[in-house]
Amino acid sequence: MSINTVMVIGAGQMGSGIAQVCAQAGFTVYLNDLKQEFLDRGLSVIKKNLTRQVDKGRMQAEEMENVLANLTPSTSLEDAKQVDLVIEAAVENMEVKTKIFNQLDEITPAHTILASNTSSLPITEIAAATKRPEKVIGMHFMNPVPVMKLVEIIRGLATTDEVYQAIEDMTKQLNKVPVEVEDFPGFVSNRILMPMINEAVYTLYEGVATKEAIDDVMKLGMNHPMGPLTLADFIGLDTCLYIMEILHEGFGDDKYRPCPLLRKYVKAGWLGKKTGKGFYEYA
Ligand code: CAA
Ligand code: NAD
Repeated sequence: MSINTVMVIGAGQMGSGIAQVCAQAGFTVYLNDLKQEFLDRGLSVIKKNLTRQVDKGRMQAEEMENVLANLTPSTSLEDAKQVDLVIEAAVENMEVKTKIFNQLDEITPAHTILASNTSSLPITEIAAATKRPEKVIGMHFMNPVPVMKLVEIIRGLATTDEVYQAIEDMTKQLNKVPVEVEDFPGFVSNRILMPMINEAVYTLYEGVATKEAIDDVMKLGMNHPMGPLTLADFIGLDTCLYIMEILHEGFGDDKYRPCPLLRKYVKAGWLGKKTGKGFYEYA
């Protein structure tokens, strides 16, 4: 199962980072999104990241050009006809994801592996939208992708050992560390992280402390690189809410109930750093 050509679906925060690390590792990459303007935004983030590496003397200008040459923007899923692996990083919504996987199943060659960067949705359910559940797998990168070492790898019920091995090998080629986890809501990362973030929002909602104080307690007291409210803004409040809803629905326990303040912010369109406003404001 050799992987040379990859399509990344979604040129948002995660998709652009995944496309960047794949292109840097020498893979031929199609970066797909719904509109050219979304692709332009994703590609400009990649260029900014690579330019910073060149400015710091960690990458030659020629190498940057080679990395950019590995990237082809795409607004048509039909481009997936030529790929060995698809990594889907569109929004955290089961309907959107199953529709994409259903289409990919029709378009891609029989050998193509279909991976999802979902933060919390069941891989087995996504796989059931295809006629190749044995080739569907979770490949969960962390934000910011170029910096964070972890990739959680999640087998669906039907995923074969061969497919798992191919994805583990590819993860190592990306200079990341694969960790295998079972297919349960939120996997390991978000089952532990997201209730902490939700609790921080409740702490703010109940007036226990200001947002700055809550973040300072966790940064200075627990040595976290970012306070939980800053991290929520960084991840995207819509994504945080989707994940809490999946945990709440998946486990049925009220301890996972999303904080009403989180819902309110998402309804207001205050999605965090990506929209310029969340708990904090961004220039
Ligand atoms: N993209 C690319 N590179 C970035 C970046 C970004 N968005 N942000 C920072 N960097 C790079 C910087 O260029 C810098 O690189 P060099 O050391 O090579 O110069 C390095 O990261 C450190 O950056 P800074 O000095 O500017 O800032 P920092 O030391 O505060 O680190 C951080 C920034 C790495 C983001 C750090 O604050 C951090 O680790 N935060 C927590 C991140 C985290 O918890 N991520 C997981 C989120 S949960 C998730 O992803 C799963 C999910 O499903 C929701
Ligand atoms: P984002 O909002 O930054 O980007 C999503 C992108 O997907 C947008 O550009 C959007 O136009 C595009 N998109 C939506 N529907 C599409 C479709 N049908 N076809 C092609 N493109 C489509 O979101 P993000 O933060 O990059 O999250 C993407 C995925 O990664 C989600 O499943 C999320 O749960 C997961 N994830 C997010 C984080 C994080 O910290 N933000 C971390 C790990 C995993």
